[in-house]
Amino acid sequence: MTELIKQHLDEGVLTLTFDRPDKLNALNNRMYTQLANLLLAADDNDDAGVIILSGGASCFTSGNDLSDFLAYPPTHLSAPAFHLMHVVIHLKKPLIAAVCGPAIGIGTTLLLHCDQVFVTQNAKLRMPFVNLGLCPEFGASLLLPKLLGHARAARLLLWGDSLEGAAAVACGLANEVFDDGATCLAAARHMALRLLAMPQDALRQTRQLLKQPLMEELQATIRQENLLFIKRLNSPEAQAALNAIVNRRADTSSPRGKPS
Ligand code: COA
Repeated sequence: MTELIKQHLDEGVLTLTFDRPDKLNALNNRMYTQLANLLLAADDNDDAGVIILSGGASCFTSGNDLSDFLAYPPTHLSAPAFHLMHVVIHLKKPLIAAVCGPAIGIGTTLLLHCDQVFVTQNAKLRMPFVNLGLCPEFGASLLLPKLLGHARAARLLLWGDSLEGAAAVACGLANEVFDDGATCLAAARHMALRLLAMPQDALRQTRQLLKQPLMEELQATIRQENLLFIKRLNSPEAQAALNAIVNRRADTSSPRGKPS
């Protein structure tokens, strides 16, 4: 079976790259499980000191696979996407995101858990949960207002507005913006190598200290969000929104419906 996440370990930097270009790296259950397993393995691998998460030079991820939301919705708290969240928040190794192009839904919420976020000018960060009849996930309802303040978090979470690269840096959701994907990926690698040159025990313990104060509240929020997310996915609002998008796409990609 083809792997949909590529891994590349070089000089202590493990780069994990979403590799489903035909669906703009939409994440399906298999990818959530694979990513969780790769992160767990990285935590146990002394040769992997820092992890870079990327979707390649032109797209980070278009978010959860929309057809999967309808066909294989999460039904319990240990569903693959939720398990991945558990792994990410307990990860011991530093995590750097290189976001080139769209980062939708979980693609943006994942960034709230990274130690550094690098973006391209054409990055597009968006959390269209309400638009889809859903609710925030992965602690976004706690972390985003803490980071941006209520009003700016509301623009993203209630209105579903997008942030492009420079705006994401201006509001603190990303660290640096780059002109193109290659430069963004190279900068992420450079930053990872800088961390590898640090005393590693001090680095891990300091990272732990940075994460610890919010951990209990974060876990409680994620649990609450996930329970609501399961309910919302089955709601008439979400079913109508998702079916409308998925059926529209099926229509336009059929030979008869394809626009000329
Ligand atoms: N799930 C499944 N397939 C997806 C997808 C998703 N989240 N996002 C994109 N795709 C697929 C499209 O169906 C299309 O596949 P097809 O050619 O087989 O029909 C392909 O990826 C390209 O997508 P397209 O919409 O044509 O690209 P675009 O460049 O015009 O737009 C986006 C890019 C990311 C803005 C747009 O695809 C989008 O909004 N996707 C949905 C994002 C979303 O709502 N995610 C869930 C958040 S909770």
